[in-house]
Amino acid sequence: MKALVIYDSVFGNTEKIARAIAESLGSLAHVEILRADQVVPEQLTGIDLLVVGSPTRGFRPTEAVTGLLKRIQPKTLKGVKVAAFDTRFNADELDSAGLRFLVKTGGYAAKRIADQLKKVGGNLILPPEGFYVEDTEGPLKAGEIERASRWAVSILDAP
Ligand SMILES: Cc1cc2nc3c(=O)[nH]c(=O)nc-3n(C[C@H](O)[C@H](O)[C@H](O)COP(=O)(O)O)c2cc1C
Repeated sequence: MKALVIYDSVFGNTEKIARAIAESLGSLAHVEILRADQVVPEQLTGIDLLVVGSPTRGFRPTEAVTGLLKRIQPKTLKGVKVAAFDTRFNADELDSAGLRFLVKTGGYAAKRIADQLKKVGGNLILPPEGFYVEDTEGPLKAGEIERASRWAVSILDAP
């Protein structure tokens, strides 16, 4: 199986999650990991599994991820298993009620990534997943790297 993990990261937290996922997938797949701004859409052919992740910034993925997803031609991911993740605040822990409301109702990057991957033919094998940071620049909440590794195993187990 050929797998590709694509991510973006401003402060390094999403990169850590992406690396944990790639490492876990590596037990059963040939895995390549690339930053979104290094990817050309041609690299998305001939793969069996594509995992895309981004920090959530203003309820959506970064420009690099959004731009890449927009450049993928229709049907490119037909027959390819896809999964999406993001990093985000835990809205329940935000001090301001207004901000809590905004973050919750605004949504997160992973769902938008998943929708776009499906739009170009991808077969979404797991619901979009979010991993939590303590604060804007991190660190990741305790246990999130391990949860990402387990999530990747569940990708491999998915039918
Ligand atoms: C400009 C900006 C906008 C953000 N918007 C959101 C948001 O809408 N929802 C959320 O949960 N977190 C938001 N965050 C927190 C980021 O998700 C957090 O910085 C990110 O997970 C860190 O990942 P990185 O280290 O890979 O960049 C925002 C952070 C910044 C700096």
